[in-house]
Amino acid sequence: MSKVTIVGAGNVGATCANVLAHEDICNEIVLIDIQGNMAKGKALDTWQQAPVDGYSTRVTGGDDYALTANSDIVIITAGIPRKPGMSRDDLISTNAKIVVSVTQNILKYTKNPIIIVVSNPLDVMTYACWKASGLSDKRVLGMAGVLDTARYRAFLAEEIGCSPKDIQAMLMGGHGDTMVPLPRYTTVSGIPVTELVKKERLDAIIERTKFGGGELVNLMGTSAWYAPGAAAAQMAVSILKNENRIYPCCVRMNGQYKLKDIFVGAPVKLGKKGIQEIIKLRLKKDELELLHKSAEAVTEIVGALDKMNLI
Ligand code: LAC
Repeated sequence: MSKVTIVGAGNVGATCANVLAHEDICNEIVLIDIQGNMAKGKALDTWQQAPVDGYSTRVTGGDDYALTANSDIVIITAGIPRKPGMSRDDLISTNAKIVVSVTQNILKYTKNPIIIVVSNPLDVMTYACWKASGLSDKRVLGMAGVLDTARYRAFLAEEIGCSPKDIQAMLMGGHGDTMVPLPRYTTVSGIPVTELVKKERLDAIIERTKFGGGELVNLMGTSAWYAPGAAAAQMAVSILKNENRIYPCCVRMNGQYKLKDIFVGAPVKLGKKGIQEIIKLRLKKDELELLHKSAEAVTEIVGALDKMNLI
């Protein structure tokens, strides 16, 4: 018996619900939005897709948090998206208010959920949710690394002319321009990527990855949803099936990588308890420096958020 609530029935939330329904591992998915009819409609549409695509997950929606009672996982996608020219950080005050209020509403009906935050600026919103929730830091995490590595893997597959399925990659740091893709931990069916892609091309792909979200905002006038929605669903699957998949996720550091009390991306084992383990890589000096630089960028925005006294 498992139930997943997705808050925010925009493009990311609706895609996440749709992808997760296709996994056919939840009894119920609830889509919540302040635009209740939009949530209800997208949920009904996904439910009507069930006979065509062959899944049993019941998908419902609305604006009433009572529908979310006793969820195992809550995925928060609510918030405004970026427009061209905006950085993720420009969304902070609007989205922090939304994320805090969503978290409080969720906890009225579910005591101890695992919460996956997708709203931007991601690392800071994950911190805001964790702080507002009072939950263990094993149960609040953010989706960014699965998306960022997916972009990196897609670009590499294009470059090599191979299937994206064969690209394995790890990436750390915040979900922003300071993210830290790690070529040393990137392989193509076990082959180190540096044996297949020249350094200058690899560097160009890493740069494109860092600005991958912005590339889509410029093309579409709003931020992406297919890969982000699917990435959040994939994290939920590892938790629901207790798979212990290792994904880069935004988590609270407790001394790992010489970082404390800050949410940034790191490799994590995801299972039924949420974050089962933060994997410690033996980073080289320059890699660690980049990670610390990225963490500093997150700390700065957290400072701005703390000054707002919202939580
Ligand atoms: C992106 C947004 C979802 O990276 O942060 O596309």
